[in-house]
Amino acid sequence: MNVEKVVTRNWGKPGQNTLAGYKQHGGYESLKKALELAPEAVLAEVKKSNLRGRGGAGFPTGLKWSFVPKDNPKPRYLAINADESEPGTAKDRFILENDPHSLLEGIAIACWALGAHTCYIYARGEFKYPSAVLDKAIAEATAAGIFGKKLLGRDFELNVYQVRGAGAYICGEETAMLESLEGKKGWPRLKPPFPAVSGLFGCPTVVNNVETIATLPAIFEKGAEWFAKLGTDKSGGTRLVTLSGVCNRPGTYEVSMQTTLKDLIFDEQFGQGMPHGRTVKAVIPGGSSAPVLTADEMGVALEFEAFKPLNSMAGSGGIIVMDDTCCMVRCLWRVTRFYAEESCGQCTPCREGMPWMTRLLRKIEEGRGEPKDLEALMQVATSIAPWPPIGLGNTICALGDAGALPVQSFVTKFKSEFEQHIAEHRCPYGDKPWGAFGEFQ
Ligand SMILES: Cc1cc2nc3c(=O)[nH]c(=O)nc-3n(C[C@H](O)[C@H](O)[C@H](O)COP(=O)(O)O)c2cc1C
Repeated sequence: MNVEKVVTRNWGKPGQNTLAGYKQHGGYESLKKALELAPEAVLAEVKKSNLRGRGGAGFPTGLKWSFVPKDNPKPRYLAINADESEPGTAKDRFILENDPHSLLEGIAIACWALGAHTCYIYARGEFKYPSAVLDKAIAEATAAGIFGKKLLGRDFELNVYQVRGAGAYICGEETAMLESLEGKKGWPRLKPPFPAVSGLFGCPTVVNNVETIATLPAIFEKGAEWFAKLGTDKSGGTRLVTLSGVCNRPGTYEVSMQTTLKDLIFDEQFGQGMPHGRTVKAVIPGGSSAPVLTADEMGVALEFEAFKPLNSMAGSGGIIVMDDTCCMVRCLWRVTRFYAEESCGQCTPCREGMPWMTRLLRKIEEGRGEPKDLEALMQVATSIAPWPPIGLGNTICALGDAGALPVQSFVTKFKSEFEQHIAEHRCPYGDKPWGAFGEFQ
């Protein structure tokens, strides 16, 4: 399986995370090319490339940029989402660590296209090392005259700032992130208006994920058509995914959109199969909020559209493998506890429903469950967000969906395991710390 690398193509090359090293490998040449084009032409290239957002929803990037009103006299902003808190996801941090200038060059290209003179990079609070690398890269680029009063010598001011979050998952949601950037509590906003129309300080703001923007230099280096052709009809390029849980070689891999989950888990260049002859029981395909898949569904390609018929999603590319020794009740309890703790408390279904589901799951796992608990679990989850299809949630933001979807999919697809816990008044897997969520006690 030959994967042409895009985002990771220069990782590991000497000095790649410094300005000198980056330039040695062709860095900032794409920006020069983009600056030769009018902003509208840059936008047209991005549209042509079929680039879709890598933050979770897979929204077409060029289309999002085109929502910024042309006649609004207010300043425009670009906000980069480097919050990366979805469990199972670890890709953006490696872009920041290995190739921070690819993000900065992408930012410059995007700001030129959008007419934005200020960019904020909102980094996850725990990102001590990635943030330090990024700060250094911003300082280098500013000192070299890439940013500042002139953009690479052009009469276009661009200032880039990194802002550190305080470790709240909710601040990855784009409008909560904007509130946090404004110095307020990270509570999501009602939409519409969407940020492209009214975002940071009430001004038009484009929010994009790190990987999305770090992809732009390659698109302008090799062309939008090249990028589009790497992918499928509807999603251009490749994807960075994080493989974790039970497999021989967990890690962060760049894969083609045609790679299947099965390839990722078993192929020699990726996961290298299961340890000790174990078998796959289930796979979470897109961060812990993505509805779980059974082993029979592993043939799905890692492309945004392919997950729809399975009522799941490609999400943030966090792929978690569970084997035959994993207790699905315990796994779900662990996942649900995370969303209960991270609920911001603004919407009643999420604030009350998540802890309620956590209590029910604990009861079932500890052998105190009753048949009515399973019904209650599904009822509470469905009051937060009906499923399928995805995206019908009853809360201001999709954190509600993120916590409800795992419950609905685990209980639907692995019902007999939940019933067995209730019937036997115990966890059939015992207390052994096996499996993807084995650290849990
Ligand atoms: C609860 C919640 C958490 C999110 N966390 C992140 C995150 O950590 N990083 C990210 O890029 N997007 C995250 N998103 C998605 C963002 O709201 C937004 O869609 C994304 O940053 C847009 O960038 P893109 O179009 O480049 O994908 C989250 C969404 C929700 C509902």
